[in-house]
Amino acid sequence: MAPFKAYLIDQKDGKTVAAFTQLGEDQLDKGEVTIRIANSSVNYKDALAATGAGRIIRRYPCVGGIDMAGIVVKSSDARFKEGDEVIATSYDIGVAHHGGYAEYGRVPADWVVPLPKGMSLFESMALGTAGYTAALGVVRMEQNGLRPENGKVIVSGATGGVGSIAIDILARLGYHVVALTGKESQADYLKGLGAKEVMLRSGLDLTRIKPLDKTLWAGAVDNLGGDVLAWMASTMQQNGVIASIGLAASMSLNTTVAPFILRGASLLGIDSGYTAMPLRHKVWERLAGDMRPAHLASMTRTVRLSELPPVFDDFIKGQARGRVVVDCAA
Ligand SMILES: NC(=O)c1ccc[n+]([C@@H]2O[C@H](COP(=O)([O-])OP(=O)(O)OC[C@H]3O[C@@H](n4cnc5c(N)ncnc54)[C@H](OP(=O)(O)O)[C@@H]3O)[C@@H](O)[C@H]2O)c1
Repeated sequence: MAPFKAYLIDQKDGKTVAAFTQLGEDQLDKGEVTIRIANSSVNYKDALAATGAGRIIRRYPCVGGIDMAGIVVKSSDARFKEGDEVIATSYDIGVAHHGGYAEYGRVPADWVVPLPKGMSLFESMALGTAGYTAALGVVRMEQNGLRPENGKVIVSGATGGVGSIAIDILARLGYHVVALTGKESQADYLKGLGAKEVMLRSGLDLTRIKPLDKTLWAGAVDNLGGDVLAWMASTMQQNGVIASIGLAASMSLNTTVAPFILRGASLLGIDSGYTAMPLRHKVWERLAGDMRPAHLASMTRTVRLSELPPVFDDFIKGQARGRVVVDCAA
């Protein structure tokens, strides 16, 4: 394997620095499966890692990119062979194990998922960790009783990657979706994805959250944490379910037990990182089947590996919309 391009994140004098470099095969991390990476993607976590805005990286230096999809070029594990199309997301990828912002990656076979039939490598990264997590959230809510006939489902951080895909999936499954956003200008975009209603965060009075308020939601997908999540809890219907996915606004949660013990609401923690493989496979299969987003192309833009650095800022500022796929071969 000739030396190849990679976007390496390092720390110098306590500051995060990231730059393109050339790596050799012997510099890849340990693993049974070597992948020629076709595509990666940009998630909020990638932006935190690459800019140092969040303490995400657990081992320096580390090639960024928590997602990768490509073709197996070498495998010492019987589950995968040369030429297989595969996806690898989460685990230590891009945080403590060289990630997807490179032309090649090597990962443990236990982290690799075969590309579901009918899905392209590009699509798998248009979904990426954001899409996988949105789908996992919906699956967990279904397992806890959510059905379209139960009532409305609200999605916060609606224009983001997880939010956009969650709206699309839920609408496709027949839910009445309400998008909660900070971006007034994006109402048409959100309705185009399938949201029946768009609510503005600025319209909420988050300074006065009651333990129990008027019931509004059968389900909630939360990407923000903090007061928005507390407000969602206080407005859940009887037996409503919340998928707690993100912390784009805050790590804190100041609520009461009232929604949980008086309305039977459930707060489900969604962790895409270490989902057990059988469930991980099932979620990817559903993303290729009944949960396949109908508007993936219109919510996705593509950048070349070399065009990555300026992309992260939008995510940190909360200005990103939809998904960004990285073309690692270009
Ligand atoms: N649990 C897991 O396994 C898992 C997996 C993936 C992602 N996540 C987390 O889920 C969240 C969303 O990820 P993502 O990739 O979709 O990120 P993203 O594309 O950057 O979207 C986040 C969205 O949240 C809103 N937002 C951003 N900053 C905000 C702020 N300070 N206050 C209020 N709203 C803000 C914006 O949407 P609007 O303007 O439309 O409101 C933004 O587009 C992140 O916290 C991420 O770390 C968790």
